[in-house]
Amino acid sequence: TPTRTAFQITPKADRVPAAERAELLASPGFGRVFSEHMAVVTYTEGKGWHTPQILPRQPLTLDPAASVLHYAQEIFEGMKAYRAPNGEALLFRPDANARRFRHSAERMAMAQLPEDLFLDAVTQLVTIDKDWIPAADVGTLYIRPFMIATEAALGVKPAAEFKFLVIACAAGEYFSKDAGPVSVWVEERTVRASRGGTGEAKCGGNYAASLTAQMEAKEHGCHQVLFLDAIERKWIEEMGGMNIVMVFDDGTILTPPLEGTILRGITRDSLLTLARDKGLTVREEPYAIDQLYADAKSGHLKEVFACGTAAVVTPIGTLKSAEGTCVINGGKTGEVTTALRKALCDIQYGRADDAHGWVKRV
Ligand code: COI
Repeated sequence: TPTRTAFQITPKADRVPAAERAELLASPGFGRVFSEHMAVVTYTEGKGWHTPQILPRQPLTLDPAASVLHYAQEIFEGMKAYRAPNGEALLFRPDANARRFRHSAERMAMAQLPEDLFLDAVTQLVTIDKDWIPAADVGTLYIRPFMIATEAALGVKPAAEFKFLVIACAAGEYFSKDAGPVSVWVEERTVRASRGGTGEAKCGGNYAASLTAQMEAKEHGCHQVLFLDAIERKWIEEMGGMNIVMVFDDGTILTPPLEGTILRGITRDSLLTLARDKGLTVREEPYAIDQLYADAKSGHLKEVFACGTAAVVTPIGTLKSAEGTCVINGGKTGEVTTALRKALCDIQYGRADDAHGWVKRV
């Protein structure tokens, strides 16, 4: 892809030696092994976006009154670079991330970043740090574009200055566990999002608000948390950082509809398309937690999985709540979950025909 924005590139002088990098990339976990550069673009009211740079990864200097530190004017994205069999770096639907980023910015009253500039920044960072993409059998390079309000002003108002940054880290499995289904805590105390709130925006605050429930999940021996709707506290919404999908014995799959409280997952959308390709019937409908328990008991509900950029497709084997434990598919990974995960990953890693034109070479 030709670069349309002229980024000023300052490569890191003392690059990590190849042998050391190989060691770090052998089992990276998630979100701790960072690549060596970052993209930075600055916004100033009246001037627009300017000074696009690729710099050695380094700490930021922020005024202690920067709005992001007080009023959480912050948004982010999650996407990945995959290593294709021929060694090329691939991105998956990056245009969809750029578009969602604009929508998140709009909701949080932040400057709109042109989609081309978003894509250029991601492409430039992946190009300079492509050696940090792990081997395909280990994982991916997780890319984290984000925007913060940097204006030093304590009045509650949209900031006039922002920074857009892109950093990246090597990513193996998101869940530190042996391969196999995860357990999920059904949160009945707190909610993640309400109608008219920020549930659909990818803003940091949504994730901060999910942490007490995530702690509760951990106390109950669960890997993740599942949130219910804010009004009736009965409809399944989404998990701490991923969407949820149910698979039934009649060849249908169901996921909650996008009505403002649920993140518009790109993995979610891609899997629904692949499910339709496979002849499954896709329903985007509300689904009550009590119905899930009943359907699991009757055998109508066969499989449940979590999906997201970080989580990919992760089977759910158990749902726990204050009322008890519900086991799905005998706690084993289901066939549809496995097939959808494979179909998605084969496209993402450049191993299968990209019929939908989702993959972009860097
Ligand atoms: C992602 O899947 O990219 C996410 O944003 C989830 C989480 C790591 C915050």
